[in-house]
Amino acid sequence: MMVVWLKIGHIIALSIWCAGLLAMPFMLSRREAGLVGEPLYERQKVTRFVFISLVSPAAFIAIGTGTALIFAMETFTAWFAIKLLFVGLLAKLHIRMGTAVVEVFKEGEHFPLWKMLTTASVGVVLVVGILVIVLWKPSLAALSPPDHIMQPGGLADLLGFYRSSSPTSMPTP
Ligand code: HEM
Repeated sequence: MMVVWLKIGHIIALSIWCAGLLAMPFMLSRREAGLVGEPLYERQKVTRFVFISLVSPAAFIAIGTGTALIFAMETFTAWFAIKLLFVGLLAKLHIRMGTAVVEVFKEGEHFPLWKMLTTASVGVVLVVGILVIVLWKPSLAALSPPDHIMQPGGLADLLGFYRSSSPTSMPTP
């Protein structure tokens, strides 16, 4: 039963987190060049409120419930490692947005269209990517990595690192 509540909490929190992250570029783009006074202050207030009071707490809850789910469901699988890589990138985007919320409202700043489109597209790719991985849950075999990577020392060979050619021996006690 605990797992069900954790999953419900996880899904509600990540929905708010992801929706907020996708909305941020559009909210930031409302800071047009040359905007001053009350209209600028209003936009800054709303954007900061959404990021600090809604999106960031939701991110903490999504990560907290997700971490609890790892132990509750013993999710030690290949797809989960890929998911965490994507979630790490999403967290990086979150930090980027947080910096932008502070910087963009400074005097003489604005959030250009190209930045809005780039950050929104990166967000969509990451969120859709995570959902595909989580719902598909591919096994390592389904991802069909090349055979030579799966051999012991395969990654070192691929990256061109030196590997001793002597046979592995067990240390004698
Ligand atoms: C650090 C952040 C996160 C951690 C540690 C985490 C961890 C987990 C774990 C352990 C599960 C249970 C997996 C299972 O069914 O065996 C889960 C479920 C799920 N997660 Fe996350 N998660 C995180 C962030 C996210 C994000 C950002 C998204 C979406 C964009 C997401 C989407 C989902 C969904 C949809 C499920 C339900 C999957 C199902 O029941 O089939 N998670 N998460």
